[in-house]
Amino acid sequence: MRRMSRRALAAALLIWIAPAAAHGQRAMQFPPVQPVTARNGMVVAQESRAALIGAEVLKRGGNAVDAAVAVGFAMAVTYPRAGNIGGGGFMVIHLAKGNRDIAIDYRETAPAATTKDTFLNAQGEADPAKSRELGLAIGVPGTVAGLTLALEKYGSGRFKLAQLIAPAIALARNGYKVGDEFEDTGRSSIARMARWPSTAKLFLKPDGSLIARGTLLVQSDLASTLEGIAKHGARAFYEGPVADKISAAVREAGGLMTSGDLKTYKAVERPVLRGSYRGLRIVSMPPPSSGGVVLLEMLNVLEGFRLKAGDPDSVHLVIEAMRYAYADRAHLLGDPDFVKAPIAGLMSKRYAATLRARLDRQRATPSDKIKTANPAGFEGNNTTHYSVVDRFGNAVANTYTINLSYGVGMIAEGTGVLMNNELDDFAAAPGVPNAFGLVGFEANEPGPNKRPLSSMTPTIVLRDGKPFIVTGSPGGSRIITAVLQVLLNVIDHRMPIAEAVHAPRLHHQWRPDETMVEAGVSAELVRALQARGHNVKVWPPFTSAPSIVVTPHGLIGAADTRTRGALAVGY
Ligand code: DON
Repeated sequence: MRRMSRRALAAALLIWIAPAAAHGQRAMQFPPVQPVTARNGMVVAQESRAALIGAEVLKRGGNAVDAAVAVGFAMAVTYPRAGNIGGGGFMVIHLAKGNRDIAIDYRETAPAATTKDTFLNAQGEADPAKSRELGLAIGVPGTVAGLTLALEKYGSGRFKLAQLIAPAIALARNGYKVGDEFEDTGRSSIARMARWPSTAKLFLKPDGSLIARGTLLVQSDLASTLEGIAKHGARAFYEGPVADKISAAVREAGGLMTSGDLKTYKAVERPVLRGSYRGLRIVSMPPPSSGGVVLLEMLNVLEGFRLKAGDPDSVHLVIEAMRYAYADRAHLLGDPDFVKAPIAGLMSKRYAATLRARLDRQRATPSDKIKTANPAGFEGNNTTHYSVVDRFGNAVANTYTINLSYGVGMIAEGTGVLMNNELDDFAAAPGVPNAFGLVGFEANEPGPNKRPLSSMTPTIVLRDGKPFIVTGSPGGSRIITAVLQVLLNVIDHRMPIAEAVHAPRLHHQWRPDETMVEAGVSAELVRALQARGHNVKVWPPFTSAPSIVVTPHGLIGAADTRTRGALAVGY
């Protein structure tokens, strides 16, 4: 293991230094990813305290689900920009026992009073303030239901919920010193926080600036809310005083949520999506996330090509696969409880073959030629993903979010719970872009109790029925292409996981008709893509893919350095 680790590290260092020096590559904006090796268990998360808490659960005999639950509650305290109990997400689990794959959907729902016109102004146009900034934006949170469901059904039974929440409670009650990560994201969210006195008093100084790095952040209300959950389970969140305070705060902020909406919220298990890629089995999240469908559609298209790392012809094909798959996403996908999407067709190898036949191998096909919609702008980086593997052969990929950084910015008074603005993921009006520039149509229109379409892509790749790669990412629309590229880097390009995670990524989502590339993609490649008709734009690193690879010799974790404070912990 030790030798392997050094080699992987050397490889990671090499791609960091060599191309930049030798080929005039643009400087990457983040340091190399350091692989961490371990024999028994591994947690890779975007925040170090939470990763250490999860690894401790594994060491004490917990399984991957126990650890994932502890990490999920901890990050609600230590990573307020995205870790949450006021949002929602998706968990994909592989259980060694019985060789089972499970998908838990704990996506937020729209309150029962939501209609398809909820996010429109008086002129009938989409109003981004309604879907992003006001109480109307807030979906009924799913995280507490999701994490407790996961533990009840798939935990090892060695840990009670209260034991797994205890570290989160201690961090909230006693406080912790905020670090780089809080400064990195907090500064750009000051305006969003300042609008809500309940949030400002926690995260901002009296002069309106952000609390400084090193400040002890004590979250007493959040500690009390977590204590209630530890004692009485999810009921303490969805019924009684906490639920009443949340719904009152949302309504005071102009929203529609009632105590009844919280009481009837349910996390649900859905059949996982399964596909194959070059002989490996891919297990990912079904709708209401588009992640699994779009990932598998792209992989199916690309399986018919021989791809070479960094080769312009290969990269061109990858971009075109993205363009076609995202066009399908926009037109066809939504909450499966409300719309019937042709999922099996979209994921079939035959459909992929028809796309390959249509795909121009030399030139970018303008997105207009595929289907019509409107162009768009983009928002920041705020979901969070973590990957866990235990010594029993179980794995968890979990991605959860409150949507934009610090969600809607509002802490529901008296609860400590920072609320999401997830309902911006609906198509507020047909063809009008959301904060990530994604467009959608009827399949994703707002409606009562509906779950907005997501891009979160927690994914487990199996080899011979056992976990091989566990990955996922934040990044809104870019999540699915980030996961795609981590998989292509490992499977097609044979990169060690640290290198696969570190390598600069690119993204196309059909609309707007742009290929976004991270700084670090070589100038030659950019020119070669432009020569093929791609409209290339350089963008800051928005995704971050904490990943684990399982080798015959042990586990290798890679914490993505695109997020400061990310950590891989193994034992
Ligand atoms: O569910 C989704 O696809 C989005 N709400 C995720 C938001 C996100 O990743 C923000 N981080 N960049």
